[in-house]
Amino acid sequence: MHLAVIVLAAGKGTRMKSELPKVLHRACGRSLLGWVLDGAEPLDADESVVVVGHGADDVITTLPGGVVGVVQEPQLGTGDAARVGLGACDGTADTVLILLGDMPLLRAETLQSVVDTHLRERAAATMLTTIFDEPNDFGRVVRSEGAIAGIVELSDANAEQRAIEEVNVSVYAFDAAALSDALGRLGSDNLQGEYYLTDVIGILSADGRRIVGVAADSAECVGVNSHGDLARVAETLRFRINDELMADGVAIIDPKRTYIDAGVQVGSGARLYPDVYLEGDTVVASGAEVGPSVHARNTTIASGASVRFSVLDGASIGPDAAVGPFSHLRPGADLRDRSKAGAFVEIKKSEIGEGSKVPHLSYVGDTTIGEHSNLGAGTITANHDGFSKHRTTIGDGVKIGSNTVLVAPVSVGDDAYTGAGSVVTHDVAPGALAVERSLQEEIPGYAERRKHRASQDGE
Ligand code: UD1
Ligand code: CA
Repeated sequence: MHLAVIVLAAGKGTRMKSELPKVLHRACGRSLLGWVLDGAEPLDADESVVVVGHGADDVITTLPGGVVGVVQEPQLGTGDAARVGLGACDGTADTVLILLGDMPLLRAETLQSVVDTHLRERAAATMLTTIFDEPNDFGRVVRSEGAIAGIVELSDANAEQRAIEEVNVSVYAFDAAALSDALGRLGSDNLQGEYYLTDVIGILSADGRRIVGVAADSAECVGVNSHGDLARVAETLRFRINDELMADGVAIIDPKRTYIDAGVQVGSGARLYPDVYLEGDTVVASGAEVGPSVHARNTTIASGASVRFSVLDGASIGPDAAVGPFSHLRPGADLRDRSKAGAFVEIKKSEIGEGSKVPHLSYVGDTTIGEHSNLGAGTITANHDGFSKHRTTIGDGVKIGSNTVLVAPVSVGDDAYTGAGSVVTHDVAPGALAVERSLQEEIPGYAERRKHRASQDGE
């Protein structure tokens, strides 16, 4: 068997009211089209073609290697789209699976069962059908003596046909030659003036060819036409991701409030509290605790680490390190083993060495901190001189006093101290104390004198 998969994705998606082509809208970090291609991936097709139209270039750039994009212009209907798709195939396929780019919930097993049934039944066409409580605008499947005789679009259906419960999902396996032949005979004499792919079923049936239906779980047959549909589909995909992780041993306290993108890795034994968002290339190791309320993108969180109420982007959190509450860790924040970024701390492009702590109210940028150092509350690394960025280097065992400003480029040697409130502009030698502030003056009896003055002024 030579299998070609054709995904129809040329439509604009008018009801999304968006410049973005409909199939590029994302659910759980992946485009709708990405989910469809992902579902088809295990079928191991010999070739895959995506028919694009609206935003063609944008869609084509997202296609994975080996998937061919072909432009349908103008868009004359699903039958025309299938014709364009088939035209882009290399001609070796004997079986063609057609899918829609806006139906992201169809599982690989469902698609596989359509192909398997098709081959087993030696059918000319095998189509997925389902039954909805409210079939809305899905095409109705017309049967005659049990066999599928055709599909009627809602706009062209009479009252009797509208009452049919079985509908067309728009997933079809075709014998390639039969499809090609029938597409050549399609007309556009219908209410929408389009070439309907659905008419291929009627044509093949009239030819006396074998059409087989495969029943699908209606929960998988959801097309996205609006942001409401997108949110519902995303919810289903989210539950699938969460269910899979929980089955693998991840503790998710409230799956309804846990938002994990496709492709994120979470190790068994990790614990996720509510309102956690894990996105992009994020990896959470087993034994880590994340949340409540953490937004992490492209971030690695190692085993035993705990991250609470924080925003992380491109950060790396080492084993047993602690983050939050209310930390903002930006790209290049690299927290080593047992280190800490505490409350109201922002860190970017900086290494916080093993066991070192930035516990309160600090900004640390373009800085290297050695091991077992402590930054007092309110420490600021002034890394930008108005023109360019400079580095701060802090050694091992350093104690930076509260409210120190380290004006980069500057370095503080091992075991050194800085006095609270100092603006440090020169390098500090190992073991030294750097203090930069005026001496404290004392004016005795000030309060008494002040009170006296106030009472005189009042008279
Ligand atoms: C289609 C089916 C309908 C089925 C429903 C399931 C037809 C005529 N009808 O209706 O029986 O119940 O799907 O969702 O096939 N597209 C193109 N090029 C075109 C037109 C459409 O690529 O010229 C793509 C669109 O991007 C879209 C898909 O095909 O993703 C479906 O097209 P649409 O016109 O919306 O058909 P439906 O009304 O959904
Ligand atoms: Ca549609």
